[in-house]
Amino acid sequence: MFPTPVLTGVYGILILLVMRMIYRVYFHPLRHIPGPKLAAATSIYEFYFDVIKGGMFVWEIERLHKIYGPIIRISPREIHIKDVEFFEEIYAPASRPREKDWNFVRQYDVDGTAFTSVSADAHRECRTPLNKFFSKSAITKIEPTIQKHLDVLCGHITSAFRAGRVVNIDSGFAGLTADVIYEYMLGYHSGNLDTEDFNKHVRDGLNGILQWSHLNFFFPIMPKIMKRIPLSILRAMIPILYDVEEMKSRIRGCVLGFLSESTDTTKDVPVMKSVIDQLPGRLRGPGRLTDETFTILNAATETTSRALSVAFFHIISNESIKLRIREEIQPLMPAPDSQPTWDELKQLPFLSGVVSECIRMSTGVASRSPRVAPHEALVYGEFTIPPGTPVSETIHFILHDPEIFPEPHSFNPERWISAAENGERLDRYLVSFSRGTRSCLGMNLAYAELYMIIARLVREFDFTNNTTWKGLEFAREFMVPYPEEGTTKYKVKVDALISE
Ligand code: HEM
Repeated sequence: MFPTPVLTGVYGILILLVMRMIYRVYFHPLRHIPGPKLAAATSIYEFYFDVIKGGMFVWEIERLHKIYGPIIRISPREIHIKDVEFFEEIYAPASRPREKDWNFVRQYDVDGTAFTSVSADAHRECRTPLNKFFSKSAITKIEPTIQKHLDVLCGHITSAFRAGRVVNIDSGFAGLTADVIYEYMLGYHSGNLDTEDFNKHVRDGLNGILQWSHLNFFFPIMPKIMKRIPLSILRAMIPILYDVEEMKSRIRGCVLGFLSESTDTTKDVPVMKSVIDQLPGRLRGPGRLTDETFTILNAATETTSRALSVAFFHIISNESIKLRIREEIQPLMPAPDSQPTWDELKQLPFLSGVVSECIRMSTGVASRSPRVAPHEALVYGEFTIPPGTPVSETIHFILHDPEIFPEPHSFNPERWISAAENGERLDRYLVSFSRGTRSCLGMNLAYAELYMIIARLVREFDFTNNTTWKGLEFAREFMVPYPEEGTTKYKVKVDALISE
C-alpha cells in the first residue's frame, strides 16, 4: 500500500486531470467546433495515432472530416479544416500576419531559423535576406551547377547499364539535389554522388530524425538530450545520429569560416557568405546560422527527390507518357546530353504537365503545419475561430481531392493541358509549396531541377521499374510521406542508352 500522503497526491493529480478534460470539452473557447470529445479532451488521441501507430494521425483526420464535416477540433487546442477555398485565409499574405505554432515548431529543435520562427516579424528578419538568392533569375544563374551534378548522375547510370546493375534511383535524386544545394549555399562539395550508393549515410540519419518527429512533438526535450550526448558515445550508440551531428559540425565549420573571412567582391561567393555579410549582429550567431543552413539543406533534398521518384515511377510505367515527353523535347535536345535551359523547357506544355503532376502526386510535405492568427478571429461558415488558435489544412487532402483533380491517384499530365485550354486555373489548387509569407523558399530551385532532370533522363535512358508503387506510396506521415514499411527505396533497371 502507498502511504496516505502519496495516495492523496495521486488522487489530487487525477482529479485535476479529469477537471481539465471537463473544462476542455464543455467550457473551452473551442468547445463549439465539431469533432470527437476524446480529441477535444486530451492529446493522447493524437499520440495514439502518431506515436503508437506510427504517423497515422493524418488518416484519422481524414476519417474525422468524413464524419464531422470540413472543420474539426483535432486536439484540445487545434483546429483542422478541409476546404481549399479557405487555404489562403490560413496561409495568408503579409497584410494579415500569421505566426507559426510554437508547440509545433519546437519539435525540430532548430531555433531562430526562417522555418521555425514563430512571430511574423522574426520570420521576416530571417527570410528577407535569403529571398533574392532563390528568385527565378538567381536560380537561372545556377543552372550550370545543376547540369554539372546531373552529368555525374548520368555517368553513374551509364556505368550501371554497362555493368547490368540496378540503380537505387531515389538515392541518386537525393544525392543530386543535396550536392546542388550544398554547393550553392556553402560552396562545399558534399560528394554524395561520388559514392556507390549516392549518399554518405547522412540521408539515413535525416530519415531517422524524421521518424522520431512525432515523439519529439510530444517530448521536445528528447532532441535536446540527444544533442548533449558526446559524439564518441553517439557514434557507438546511434551511428545515424552521429552522421547528422557530423554534418552539422561541417556546416558550422563553413559558417565560422564565412564569419571570419572578408568578402572578395571580385567573385561569386556562396549564398550563406553573402547573407551573413548583410545580417545585423544579433542574427550572426554561429549556432543560429548553422541551424538556418541545416534546415535549408534538408528542405531542398527529400522533397524534390521524392517528386522526381514519383515522376519517374509513372513515366516508366507508362510508355505513352515517356514517348510524348521524348517527342516534345527532341527539338531542344538533338543530342542525348544537350542542355536546354529551364526557361526553354518550361515552354513545353506536356513536360510542364508532367512536372505539375509529379509535384501534385508526391505531396512533398505531408504533415499539417498550423498557423496562428494572433489578433484576428477567423470565420469559417457559422464558426468563429478565436485569435491565437492553431489552425491547419493538410496539403495532401487538397492535392488528392477528386472534386478538384478527378481520379486523383492516376498520374495524368493531360489534366493540366486541358485545364489551360479551357481557361481553368487548376494551378490555384496546386498548393504543394504552401501559400503566403511562410511558403516554400526553394520553389524555383525545385522547378528548375525537376524540368532539367526529367528532360535529361528521359532523353538519355530507357528504364524499367524494379520497385512496386507500394515502395513509394504515401502511407505514413513523418513530416514527409513514407511508405508502409521503412523509408522510400525506389530502384530501376537501365534497359538502354538512347544514343540518337
Ligand atoms: C518539390 C519540392 C518542394 C516542396 C513540395 C516543398 C514544399 C514546402 C512547403 C509545403 C513548405 C511550407 C512548410 C510549412 O508550412 O511549414 C516549405 C517551406 C520551405 N522550403 Fe520547401 N519544398 C520543396 C523544395 C524546396 C527546396 C528545393 C528548398 C531549398 C531552398 C526548400 C526550402 C524551404 C524552406 C527554407 C522552407 C521554410 C520557409 C519559411 O518558413 O520561410 N524547399 N516547402
